[in-house]
Order: sequence, then structure tokens, then C-alpha cells
Amino acid sequence: MNIKTINYFTASIILVLALSGCENKQEQPAGVSFKTMADALYAVMKADRTVYARDVINRLVNQEKAIKASEHWKDDKALPLPAQIFRLGAEQAAEDGATFSYGLLSEWPINKKNAPTNDIEKQGLKFISANPGQHFYADEKLGERQYFTAIYPDVAVTDACIECHNDHKDSPKTDFETGDIMGGVVIRIPM
Ligand code: HEC
Repeated sequence: MNIKTINYFTASIILVLALSGCENKQEQPAGVSFKTMADALYAVMKADRTVYARDVINRLVNQEKAIKASEHWKDDKALPLPAQIFRLGAEQAAEDGATFSYGLLSEWPINKKNAPTNDIEKQGLKFISANPGQHFYADEKLGERQYFTAIYPDVAVTDACIECHNDHKDSPKTDFETGDIMGGVVIRIPM
């Protein structure tokens, strides 16, 4: 073998090794953890919730006074409340066959159905209130099924949040301030 042949030979071996390396990588399952999945879902939910409260409700209802937001939005020809938009989205996702579920809960709920109902929910809401900016993760068994449950802070991102809650006749808390944690987003992924 002359030098040139050896070089070709070496180059071919390197190429074969490189290609097999790529193949091996492609064969690896490219899965994400439950935590990564829940965090990503929350990022989208939080962004959508912030944008709706700030750029639709706060702008049109509180600042421009162009239209009202109402729990009876269909009859009143008004805008749905942010919590209603959130629930409508969750119901639509379930209808579309999503494997995960999500909802909005609070220790100070206007709607009593949004109060925490089990230990994990109570623990999670307490944790996110006591540790601003942090998230709560737990394994949870509901019925026969095991879930990865994540609870994230739901923050008063705009004045509209606190004005409406503080003034609402059914609100058990009337001194929310902008930036406060008002409740939690609960995401459940079956394991
Ligand atoms: C115009 C009034 C209004 C605005 C604006 C509003 N909320 Fe609410 N919110 C409500 C009502 C009423 C409910 C209960 C609705 C339901 O469950 O059907 C609710 C539900 C909630 C819940 C679930 C617990 C509960 O109180 O029932 C949380 C948490 C919450 N809102 C936080 C927020 C945050 C954060 C914002 C701003 C991003 C916001 N809300 C904006 C009226 C409002």
C-alpha cells in the first residue's frame, strides 16, 4: 500500500465509524422526561394566559372600557373570563384525545370547585405560595392509575387579575396585589 492508498483506507474507516455513530444516535429513543414535558406544557399555558389577561381583558375591559368580561359571556355577549378560557382549552384538549389533563386551583377560590381536593393538591398549592418561583412535583395514585403531577404558580400578571378577584362577591380574599401568586396550574400526566 502506498501512502495515498493508506490515506483512502483510513478515510473510509473514519467515514464508516462516523456513519455508524450517527445511526446509533438515531436508534436511541429521543424521549423527554415527564418533568420536561410538564414544564413545557406549563410554559405554553402561562404565556397564553398572560397574553389573554393582559392584551385582551386588561386592554379592552379595564383600560379601553370597550367590552365587559363576564362569567355568563354567551348571554351577556361579553368576553369569557381568563379562568373560563383556560378551562375551555383543557376541555377541548381532552376532547381531542390529549393524554394529560390540567386545571386551575386556588386556596382562595371564587368558584368552590377550584379548591384543592386531595393532599397532593393542598401540599402543592402551599409549596408554590411559600416558595415563589418554584414548582412542585409529585407521583400520585388516583384510582388504579399512577400520575406524574406538577403544580406551578398562577401569578397576578396584570391589574385586571387582582381588580376582578378583590371585587368579586364570592372571593374569600380581597387584598391580592399585582405579582401575587393567586393559585396554581395543576398538570397530570399518566405514567
Ligand atoms: C373579570 C374577572 C376576572 C379576571 C380579569 C381574572 N379572574 Fe381569575 N377568576 C374569576 C372568576 C369569576 C373565577 C372562577 C371562574 C370559574 O371557575 O368558572 C376565576 C378563577 C380563577 C382561579 C381559580 C380559583 C378561583 O378563584 O376559582 C385562579 C387561580 C384565578 N382566577 C387567577 C387569576 C389570574 C392570575 C388572573 C389574571 C391573569 C385572573 N384570575 C383574572 C374572575 C377573574
